[in-house]
Amino acid sequence: TIHHCKIIDIPKISSDKGSLSFLESNSIIPFDIKRVYFTYDIPSGAERGGHAHKEQHEIVIAASGSFNIIIDDGNEKKKIFLNTPHKALHIVSGIWRELNDFSTGSVVLVMNSGLYEEQDYIRNYNEFKVEND
Ligand code: TYD
Repeated sequence: TIHHCKIIDIPKISSDKGSLSFLESNSIIPFDIKRVYFTYDIPSGAERGGHAHKEQHEIVIAASGSFNIIIDDGNEKKKIFLNTPHKALHIVSGIWRELNDFSTGSVVLVMNSGLYEEQDYIRNYNEFKVEND
């Protein structure tokens, strides 16, 4: 359920040179990271996401800028605003997600527990509802 989707506080080391944050598989990130991807050059008003994963887990970070993530388990929905690089949202499997309200220059950094496999996606909301009701 969406209650398994938690905000993770990422360590932040700051100095007069700036800040550094880091992640490691199976510690700060509660799974093995197999794939990293990022979206950028996102026009204002765009909506991304619009799918659920059958098995894969994801970590989403606002590496730059800000955006909303709406998570939905078929029963309950929650809107989470990400606007700092040292907070991550862990999205477990079986959760529909939509991303919107991107600020100019925002970068969505995603870490996934699996390689890219279209068979792991549910991209039809009605199909998602049927499987998660
Ligand atoms: P999509 O899942 O629609 O992106 P988002 O969830 O951010 O809206 O993916 C956009 C396109 O990129 C789609 O054709 C699939 C492709 N893609 C890959 O080839 N590899 C990947 O790791 C990802 C995430 C997407």
